[in-house]
Amino acid sequence: MDNVRKIPQHVAIIMDGNGRWAKKRGLPRTMGHAQGARVVEQILEDADHMGIRYLTVYAFSTENWTRPDSEVKALMNLLRTYMKTSLAKCAKNNVRIRVIGDKSRLDEDLQASIAHLEHETRTNTGISFQIAINYGSRDEMVRGIRKIAAKAAAGQISPEQIDEEMFSDSLDTAGLPDPDLLIRTCGEERISNFLMWQIAYSELYFTPVAWPDFNKAELEKAVDAYNSRERRFGGLVN
Ligand code: FPP
Repeated sequence: MDNVRKIPQHVAIIMDGNGRWAKKRGLPRTMGHAQGARVVEQILEDADHMGIRYLTVYAFSTENWTRPDSEVKALMNLLRTYMKTSLAKCAKNNVRIRVIGDKSRLDEDLQASIAHLEHETRTNTGISFQIAINYGSRDEMVRGIRKIAAKAAAGQISPEQIDEEMFSDSLDTAGLPDPDLLIRTCGEERISNFLMWQIAYSELYFTPVAWPDFNKAELEKAVDAYNSRERRFGGLVN
């Protein structure tokens, strides 16, 4: 039993360090993001092969709008390209895509591509891939509370009925299991407004490796660390 690696069901990743990776190579930051996007696709496949069932990545935060226009545009274009080009791959690999975050601020064509990809992949039963775009945990919680408050104001529910399950169901991640493991790359040890409700009991793993250098071996290291902690705590201390 000791040799059997337990695979986390849901892994969430804060993909940090694209800019530093590019700077180190004398490249524009956008090249770091482009390489980062290639790594996302590879890690999705690797995670799937390892038996991870849910992968959630932080692609664009509610705070990222303050970056220079050219960088915001480049990131949006990467996401646009991903939404437009990944359908065949998702069909082949049985991947289900969901975007979490407030989509209403995104360009309409991007919103349409997201809706199309989510719809076309909704019955796929393989790995479930969540991409956080214009996502912030506080914003997600406020939007969730508004939905619940509207129901209460309309007399459909009473305040006493509001519980953790109802709140979880009001979030963008409704229906998904909470992450077992959260990975953040490139050295910072912060949560940065990502899945704050959902990671209440997750293992946190920080690595100095920049996202564009992240690979299957690094993912395996993170899973190994998750396993050693599981063993240490015997799964009893949450
Ligand atoms: C953080 O690095 C990374 C981001 C803000 C963007 C992450 C987005 C991608 C990897 C592309 C997503 C694509 C798909 C297909 C989902 P940083 O720019 O903050 O790096 P720095 O801290 O070194 O400056």
